[in-house]
Amino acid sequence: MTSPSTAAIRPRERDALLQSLRAGVVPRMGQQHVQVGRVNEVQALLSDINRINDGGAGSRFIIGDYGSGKTFFLHLIRSIALQQKLVTVHADLSPDRRLQATGGQARSLYAELMRNMSTRAKADGGAMSSVVERFVTQALTESRASGEAVETIIRRNLDQLSELTGGYDFAEVIAKYWQGHDTGNEQLKADAVRWLRGEFTTRTDARAALGVRTIVDDSNFYDQLKLLALFVRLAGFGGLLVCLDEMVNLYKLANSQARNSNYEQILRILNDSTQGTASGLGFVFGGTPDFLLDPRRGLYSYAALQSRLEENSYAVDGLVDYSGPILRLSSLTPEDFYVLLTKLRHVQAGGEESAYLIPDEGITAYMLHCAQRIGDAYFRTPRNTIKSFLDLLAVLEQNPGRQWEDLLVGVKLDHESNPDLAPLPPAGPAPHPMAPTQTAETSANPGFGAPQGSPLADRDDDELSAFKL
Ligand SMILES: Nc1ncnc2c1ncn2[C@@H]1O[C@H](COP(=O)(O)OP(=O)(O)OP(=O)(O)O)[C@@H](O)[C@H]1O
Ligand SMILES: [Mg+2]
Repeated sequence: MTSPSTAAIRPRERDALLQSLRAGVVPRMGQQHVQVGRVNEVQALLSDINRINDGGAGSRFIIGDYGSGKTFFLHLIRSIALQQKLVTVHADLSPDRRLQATGGQARSLYAELMRNMSTRAKADGGAMSSVVERFVTQALTESRASGEAVETIIRRNLDQLSELTGGYDFAEVIAKYWQGHDTGNEQLKADAVRWLRGEFTTRTDARAALGVRTIVDDSNFYDQLKLLALFVRLAGFGGLLVCLDEMVNLYKLANSQARNSNYEQILRILNDSTQGTASGLGFVFGGTPDFLLDPRRGLYSYAALQSRLEENSYAVDGLVDYSGPILRLSSLTPEDFYVLLTKLRHVQAGGEESAYLIPDEGITAYMLHCAQRIGDAYFRTPRNTIKSFLDLLAVLEQNPGRQWEDLLVGVKLDHESNPDLAPLPPAGPAPHPMAPTQTAETSANPGFGAPQGSPLADRDDDELSAFKL
């Protein structure tokens, strides 16, 4: 790893990093400049990435407490996967985005994943067109070399897709893209990409635009991802990595049937990746321990998943096992946090040691201040302490002559609270918005549970009124 004191920081990266971290969100670029720890975890995921590149598969559950760095880790893995020539897609689950649904929520998750589709050259998303274009260009190159007609090459390559569920229409859509390319029909190309991105909402529209009878919808979410994985390999990439964060949203589904059908989908994914039936496809799920372990609503509530996901009983008391599907993110340590602060100082100074705004003893004093104010949460869930450290540096930068010692005493720090610990909505019909029984917490978290007005919102069977975290 590059030492923080020598790494050069591009101004664009510096600004993006500081802006995200001060806003309390995980940076989209330049994470390597602030990353600390996680050596073994990265190593484990790197072996998954290599396996996917070789046409294999893999699923990992990144489990960590609130604020422990799951999202950061997922971003990091994603950027490594891009470097290793995989295509990545990522999305957060939400009440409106799930793996399995009947009211459009699975298609909605699919469309979000596709919007975020990235390649090394297009790391910020929106890469679907360029992936399809690459598939076509490759066929053109092959045609020039072999003298065979492009159409023949494309058809032959697409034949492999037809063997999978839904593959026939998928192949038809790609063929339409080629037709658009060949005849200069931009509309046809755009429609083909729109279909692949899961943006057609009716079959009639898709049929009119592309002559296919199906669209990506709730019923074929996972089959489409498998097709896509195969397709990106045909286009010359190593495979597809699917990153799904905020899995706790499944645990929050009030309706047990809806929850179980999502867990069943996870089981399918897990079985495929362990039995070798998926190819060039990997999944990384980010979730809290509740999402995994809760015996009533977590993955463990689904017996077949519990038996597959049970952690190695020997890996206790400091012993580790990074080979199973569950990857526990341990908390950062004070040492990690110290290194993190030195890296933040380095980034803030644009990579110039001479521009550091605070000496090493200032960093130690800052950590002591945090420990006194909020205990060891300062390094375990570092969102606020990172933010506040950068705020301190910003003031020092803009007020030359001010001393860090003077400012440090005034630094205020708040405990972070986990929104997931807010009470879940009671079972049964959603209360009237003006009902006097509604608590401040439920009104502050309108997104919990099945979306109101959906058929799932007012059916429940779980006696959740008695449920507490
Ligand atoms: N390995 C790391 N190196 C440097 N900074 C990190 C690391 N892990 C996490 N962080 C920082 O810690 C903060 C919290 O991380 P993150 O948002 O990833 O946590 P989380 O587990 O996803 O939280 P939540 O449960 O709220 O989703 C962020 O500011 C992130 O940039
Ligand atoms: Mg997160």
